[in-house]
Amino acid sequence: MTVSDSKNSRVASSSVEPMFIERWSSKAFSDKALSDDQISSLFEAAHWAPSSSNRQPWLFVYATDGPDREKFNTLLNEGNARYAPNAGMMVLIFARIVDDEGNKIRTALFDTGAAWMSLALQANRMGLNTRAMGGIDLDAAYDVARVPRDKFETVCAIAVGYRGTDDDIHERMVEQNFANDRKDVREIAFKGTYSG
Ligand SMILES: Cc1cc2nc3c(=O)[nH]c(=O)nc-3n(C[C@H](O)[C@H](O)[C@H](O)COP(=O)(O)O)c2cc1C
Repeated sequence: MTVSDSKNSRVASSSVEPMFIERWSSKAFSDKALSDDQISSLFEAAHWAPSSSNRQPWLFVYATDGPDREKFNTLLNEGNARYAPNAGMMVLIFARIVDDEGNKIRTALFDTGAAWMSLALQANRMGLNTRAMGGIDLDAAYDVARVPRDKFETVCAIAVGYRGTDDDIHERMVEQNFANDRKDVREIAFKGTYSG
């Protein structure tokens, strides 16, 4: 299977739903705003993700424009600050790592990752682009989003918006801005025992 996207030459080695190879994280965002309905659909998708004991430990705090967005933008490291402010929405993702009884939620990050991927695939179906960003000030994110440090772990941020063109990013980013490839499936999936 191949995809029709000039920046995406991914080829699947086995039969797979097209959405898995069509999604990729461009750094080029257009500055077109997202509607409230679009934003609702994205978090709708995220919140149907599976989680251990259905604890749903994910937490999303988002900003689109105005003073909130300016504060969110200050969290970005230098590289991410070159493109992410253009995206229609920035989301800070936290995982609840301690439950109400004080017990550690061992699978919090795993569950939260499932929710992010659901959002990313929904975005792709809606013609939108997403890019996750670990390169943020993880500690300052608690203050910006007013999230308690003792219960949550900052995971990363994501930029979400309409896909832009090469004109929307710095010229040095253009040559790196294409859908990358993956390891061979035989390197990551083993029958019976690991033999790497
Ligand atoms: C948790 C996480 C953190 C990431 N951090 C950054 C980042 O700080 N800056 C960046 O440009 N891309 C970042 N990425 C994007 C990855 O580089 C990208 O997802 C990976 O190369 C696979 O490409 P694809 O998403 O286009 O399939 C991050 C992705 C994830 C999942």
